[in-house]
Amino acid sequence: MHAHPTPTPGHPIRVAVLGSTGSIGRQALDVAAQNPDLVKIVALSANSSVDLIARQAEQFDVQHLAMGRSDSAAELALRVPDSHVGVGADAVEELTLLDDVDIVLNALVGAAGLRATVSTLRAGRRLALANKESLVVGGELVTSLAKPGMMTPVDSEHSAIYQCLLGEDPRDASRIWLTASGGPFRGRTRDDLASVTAQDALKHPNWVMGPKISIDSATLMNKGLEAIEAHHLFGMDYDRIRIVVHPQSCIHSMVEFSDGSVIAHLGATDMRIPIQFALSEPRRWSAPVEPVDFTTIGQLDFENPDLDTFKCLAIALQAGRDGGTTPVAMNAANEVAVAAFLKDRIGFTDVDRVVSGVLDVHKREVLESIEQVEEIDMRSRESAESIVEQVSAT
Ligand SMILES: NC(=O)c1ccc[n+]([C@@H]2O[C@H](COP(=O)([O-])OP(=O)(O)OC[C@H]3O[C@@H](n4cnc5c(N)ncnc54)[C@H](OP(=O)(O)O)[C@@H]3O)[C@@H](O)[C@H]2O)c1
Repeated sequence: MHAHPTPTPGHPIRVAVLGSTGSIGRQALDVAAQNPDLVKIVALSANSSVDLIARQAEQFDVQHLAMGRSDSAAELALRVPDSHVGVGADAVEELTLLDDVDIVLNALVGAAGLRATVSTLRAGRRLALANKESLVVGGELVTSLAKPGMMTPVDSEHSAIYQCLLGEDPRDASRIWLTASGGPFRGRTRDDLASVTAQDALKHPNWVMGPKISIDSATLMNKGLEAIEAHHLFGMDYDRIRIVVHPQSCIHSMVEFSDGSVIAHLGATDMRIPIQFALSEPRRWSAPVEPVDFTTIGQLDFENPDLDTFKCLAIALQAGRDGGTTPVAMNAANEVAVAAFLKDRIGFTDVDRVVSGVLDVHKREVLESIEQVEEIDMRSRESAESIVEQVSAT
């Protein structure tokens, strides 16, 4: 099943980390720092965090760097005169094609990660995929490029499902149980949510993550994006993907088989575990964090998600079922709405209003090309921005 050799001391796996200054990127570099014999970082990219990427380049002795923003690239080039610093999205994409890269960790945020996902897979390179949005918008265009064993999910739920399926015949898997923490507002009503602030929404009970995914977790859009991600990764119909709220986040997801057996993946709520597995598979290395102590957990709870309060989840599931370009429009609208909420331009419950507003006027097309995805992404962002302006003016 695995077309790639496993790294051993003396033959480290060579990794390009895209989005190295973000939450996933920094944790990936921590895994690398803990396993210097097994992991060699060969390329890094960020958007504007010059200070941090300069320090990372020095710590890991990295020669190939790329910055999304041109002013940041110029600043970085002065800081690290011995490294090559590329500029813009093309340069980020070029890192995926470097000769000495064995695996690309795509930890960019948003649909901006699509191009790197596509170029990695087109080049026949291994991809450790944290950037769920590239699967949400690229769908079958992305999965059709992935040769067996060449794309490993990093998202904790999908890493869990992937591991539950190892050694199984996928035809025997009858259902995926996708677990959700419920986010910081579990149990609240729609009225309660009207006045919550970005600061409230950023306080996730179980995970420390970047700002966009934290807001997506609070609206439950994140679980909708993950259902679409699971649909594409595991070829599972939406009717067979069940979302279950499990506030302890101890079970990272489960697979139910045709004989009624259920295999669950459990562990500490720390992304370094799935990040490391994406690099180490099919082997496992020493635990990057303290393993979970079950005697301290007490109980595990399960409940249905509240789709009336957390409308983003219902919208995303419907967009996934509609398929074609609908998830592209939905994702773009959500990115614009989340950015506007983070800047206090709109309220929390306006996020789903903006997404619905964009989908109301979107004309679904069959998914045909990456260029079409980029075009619809751009148009949907414009449409979302005009709704944000109307909402913020009232
Ligand atoms: N964080 C988690 O625990 C977690 C868990 C599961 C899945 N994920 C997924 O992993 C991905 C990354 O999430 P995150 O929380 O790590 O995000 P994050 O903390 O916001 O980091 C995003 C990274 O991407 C860079 N970046 C942003 N826009 C860019 C652009 N246009 N061009 C080039 N680089 C750009 C950022 O650089 P700057 O620092 O310069 O802005 C940063 O390095 C997301 O798709 C998320 O859904 C995250």
